[in-house]
Amino acid sequence: MSETKKLYIKTYGCQMNVYDSERMADVLLPLGYEMSENSDDADIMILNTCHIREKAAEKVYSELGRIRKIKNERTSNGQTTIIGVAGCVAQAEGEEMLARAPIVDLLVGPQAYHRLPELIRKIEEGERGLLEVDFPADDKFEKIPAARSAQIIARGPTAFVTVQEGCDKFCTFCVVPYTRGSEFSRPVEKIVAETTRLCASGVKEITLLGQNVNAYHGTGPDGDSWSLGRLLYELADVPGLERLRYTTSHPLDMDDVLIAAHGDLPELMPYLHLPVQSGSDKILAAMNRKHTTAVYFDVVKRIREARPDIALSSDFIVGFPGESDADFAATMKLVREVEYSQAFSFKYSPRPGTPAADMDTQVEEHVKSERLSELQALLRHQQHAFNQNCMGRELPILFTGKGRNPGQLVGRSPYLQPVHADAPEEYIGSIQSVGITKVGTNSLSGLCAGGNVRSTFNARPEILSEGTTL
Ligand code: SAH
Ligand code: SF4
Ligand code: F3S
Repeated sequence: MSETKKLYIKTYGCQMNVYDSERMADVLLPLGYEMSENSDDADIMILNTCHIREKAAEKVYSELGRIRKIKNERTSNGQTTIIGVAGCVAQAEGEEMLARAPIVDLLVGPQAYHRLPELIRKIEEGERGLLEVDFPADDKFEKIPAARSAQIIARGPTAFVTVQEGCDKFCTFCVVPYTRGSEFSRPVEKIVAETTRLCASGVKEITLLGQNVNAYHGTGPDGDSWSLGRLLYELADVPGLERLRYTTSHPLDMDDVLIAAHGDLPELMPYLHLPVQSGSDKILAAMNRKHTTAVYFDVVKRIREARPDIALSSDFIVGFPGESDADFAATMKLVREVEYSQAFSFKYSPRPGTPAADMDTQVEEHVKSERLSELQALLRHQQHAFNQNCMGRELPILFTGKGRNPGQLVGRSPYLQPVHADAPEEYIGSIQSVGITKVGTNSLSGLCAGGNVRSTFNARPEILSEGTTL
């Protein structure tokens, strides 16, 4: 009798890597594998990596060092272990990684996941050191089975669906255009079909993903090019779908239809991640962001007119080459004016091969650190204030899993805050009204009134991801 083999995937980086890991599972599980949450007993181990900031590659090499011990131990027990590295570090390092880490059997870039079955077969036949990092002309999504595996869907009532991948914007600090390739939008019908299947399996909340999601321009059933706004109106009608989100948007691509959708569609949650990176027009130009602060303020104004309670989030980079005290002060001023519900902020990290890495006006490390703590203190203050405003309100919470304490569940508010409440397990997968009684900087808690339970779910096992935004 042959035992079912185990597949373990560790995911680093952004939400698209989380989605990609699920899709890799979708192609590999039908070959006779089951998911394992444990690296020690895996027959195939895949690290799905991120290259966005420094030490990303080093982290992967040190993880490979740990894995080598597991592989050796298994080999001495007569077991084989296939080690794969996927994602943006695989794409960026290529041959170099195979030379430096000979335990890696397979390197596969983000555009080649559909080739995994064939690559695994070759390894089983004795080949080693396979490299698949070309950007192929064929569409990877067309080659991945449409149906999502039951094991993946059972993870909970929220799901990601990639609608757009790659980026043509070439911000001077960013590796994404090199690791993900140029912009590609999936056809509308494929996205509607994937969403329909997920919702028929009980998924309630779909987050559409793209490195530049609002630059989406997929072919519609009418043969026209559809914008993201138009796609959202279509998806809002999918049976069973209760909540829609999308990430990450570029300020230049927030068009009128998309903004109107925030006012029109109750399914579209009042939360928008709209990275600005800096509040200085000089730095925005050096970053090649292609927008000014005035453009950003205008988008913020229009989106707030369409949906007054919208929660705004952003990404910031401090210490970009040439950033003076005055430039940083402009960033602080922008943050004070916009008032974010939360935001991510990073020290500028020179990435090999990107134009900003070669600029000769690099900012000293201690200056970057000081600016980062000042910015983060302000952002934390704003996040706390936003949460404080929810005190005493009744919010509809989509329960996604068990909380830390017995009898407690955790879920998400429309504004993407984690919310804890005592509630029966059957409520996982349903939206319930929760009266907010306590707020912290990172989460809220409250009392669940109970009510109609629309469906149930297994608790979601944590996805092993060291998150960053898309
Ligand atoms: N597509 C998104 C960003 C994708 S990368 C956008 O256009 O905004 C996610 C975030 O990582 C970026 O918003 C940026 O804040 C940060 N980031 C990217 N490259 C970086 C670098 N070299 N150093 C520091 N932060 C970086
Ligand atoms: Fe593209 Fe965003 Fe990277 Fe700019 S920051 S190059 S828009 S992915
Ligand atoms: Fe790649 Fe996402 Fe990281 S696109 S570099 S995995 S942030």
